[in-house]
Amino acid sequence: MNTKKNDYILPEMNRERNRSLRSTAAACSRFVMDDAAVNFGRGKKYYIRTYGCQANVRDGETIAGILELMGFENTESTSEADVLIFNTCAIRQAAEDRVFGEIGSLKSVKAKHPGQVICLCGCMAQEEVVVNKIISSYPQVDLVFGTHNLWRLPELLMKVMKEGKRTIEVLSQEGDLIEELPVRRSAGAKGFVHIMYGCDKFCTYCIVPYTRGRERSRRREDILAEIRSLREEGRKEAVLLGQNVNAYGKDLGMEDGFTSLLESAAETGIERIRFYTSHPRDYSATTIDAMRKYPNIMKSLHLPVQSGSDEILKRMNRGYTADSYRKLYDDMRAKIPEITFTTDLIVGFPGETDEQFQATLDLVDYCQFDLAYSFVYSPRAGTPAARMEDSIPAEVKKERLQILNDRLSAIAATRNAAYLGRKVRVLCEGPSKKNAAVYSGYSEENKLVNFTGPEGLEDRIVDVEITETHSFSLDGKAV
Ligand code: SAH
Ligand code: SF4
Ligand code: F3S
Repeated sequence: MNTKKNDYILPEMNRERNRSLRSTAAACSRFVMDDAAVNFGRGKKYYIRTYGCQANVRDGETIAGILELMGFENTESTSEADVLIFNTCAIRQAAEDRVFGEIGSLKSVKAKHPGQVICLCGCMAQEEVVVNKIISSYPQVDLVFGTHNLWRLPELLMKVMKEGKRTIEVLSQEGDLIEELPVRRSAGAKGFVHIMYGCDKFCTYCIVPYTRGRERSRRREDILAEIRSLREEGRKEAVLLGQNVNAYGKDLGMEDGFTSLLESAAETGIERIRFYTSHPRDYSATTIDAMRKYPNIMKSLHLPVQSGSDEILKRMNRGYTADSYRKLYDDMRAKIPEITFTTDLIVGFPGETDEQFQATLDLVDYCQFDLAYSFVYSPRAGTPAARMEDSIPAEVKKERLQILNDRLSAIAATRNAAYLGRKVRVLCEGPSKKNAAVYSGYSEENKLVNFTGPEGLEDRIVDVEITETHSFSLDGKAV
C-alpha cells in the first residue's frame, strides 16, 4: 500500500525506484463510467491546461473526454470554470515553476468563485516534493491524482465536489492498462496514439521512470483500432507515442514488436504515420527497412543522443557510445538519404568538462541534425544525477548552451537551404499562430512550413513550393 496520511494516498519515489523490471504483460481492463457520474457535470464547465510532451497531451485529451462524458463543457476561461485541471510536466525545474506560478495566481480567481475546484495531475503529481509543497502551501488545490489513475477522475471529482474535502490519490504502482477510455481530441488532422506507457531506462538525470511507471505495451488490436478510428474520422496523421517506442512489445513477449506494429499501422492506410521517441539502445535496423518500404511512414527520425562524450553517456546510463550512435546515423543516411534527423541534447550534466562538451559539438558537426532540442541539465529530486557532485558554474552551462545553439541553428539553416525551390507535401494545420495571413503545417520530412494559398486548405495535404528558407522553418506557396 502507499503511504496514507489524513486519508491522502501519497507518491513514493522509493517504491518506483525499487520496482521489479520483470517483463510481464500488464493486465488490461475496460473503462466503465459509473451511472452516478454521467450527468454530474451538467451545466458546469471545465478548463484544462496541459504541459509537457505529446504523451501528456494525449492524456489531457482523455481527461477532457472523461469530463465531457460526465456532462461538463469546455471553457478557455479560468474565471468561468467550475473545475480547473493542471495536467503537468516534471521534466525540468522550469516546467514546475511555471505551474506553481499559475496555481499561485489562481488563489484570487478562486476567492471570487467559491466552490471552484482546482486539480493537479500529470507527472508533477507523482513527485513527493511537489505533493508535500501542495499540502503545505497551496490550500487552493482541491484534488491531486497521478498518471496511473486518471480513469478514477469521475469518482475523485464527485467526492471533492460533494463532500468539499481535499483529496489526494497518487499511486506508485501502475495497475492495469485501461482501454476504451473516452477521448476529446484536439482539433486538426493528426491524432496521438499511445502505443506504450512508462519507461524502464532509468537515465540518471530523468524523472520519467518515476512518474510514468514501468514499460507497458498496449495490445496491438487496441492500437490498430485507434488508428483506424482516426482514419474514419477523416484524420490524416497518426502519431504513435511512447518514451521508448523501440521497446514496444517486449513485455508482451514479442520479438521486434515495434517494427511489426509499425508495418501493421502503415497497412491501415492512414495517410501519415510518425512515431516518438526512439532510443538508440533498442534501435532495430528493421525499423528503417519498414520506413523505406511504406510511403505513409514519414521519413523523419527523432533519436535523442543527449551527449557526444562517452564518459557522460556512461554516467547518464544511456547504454551506447558516441561511435555507436554515429554508426546508427550512417546506416540510416545510407538507407534513406533524404531522412530528416533530429535529436535532444543536454549540456552541463554534473561535472561535464570542456572536452566533454566539445565532444558534443563534434557529434553535432558529424550528424548535421535537421533540428535539435537542447537543454541545460536540471537536477530532479530523487534521481541519481541529482546526487552527483557538480562543480560547473551555472554561467558556464549557460554559455555552453549558447555555443551549442548557435552551432545547431547554423546547421539547421544549411539543411533547410537545400529545400529552396523544391516541392514538399504539407499537412495544413490552419492559419499560422504568428501570422494569420499564412497557413502553417508540417511537411513529410517534419519541416515547419508557412505558406500562402487559396481558402479552404485546412486539414488537407497540400503541395507547397519553397520560396525562402530559415533555420527553423520554410516559406512557400501552395501549387
Ligand atoms: N524518452 C525520451 C525523452 C523524454 S524527455 C528519450 O529518452 O529520448 C525529453 C528530453 O528532455 C530528453 O531527451 C532530455 O534531453 C531532456 N531531459 C530529460 N531530463 C532532463 C533533465 N533533468 N534536465 C534537462 N533535460 C532533461
Ligand atoms: Fe527519461 Fe531516459 Fe526514459 Fe527517455 S529513456 S524517458 S530520457 S529515462
Ligand atoms: Fe514531462 Fe511527464 Fe512527458 S515529465 S515530458 S509530461 S512524461
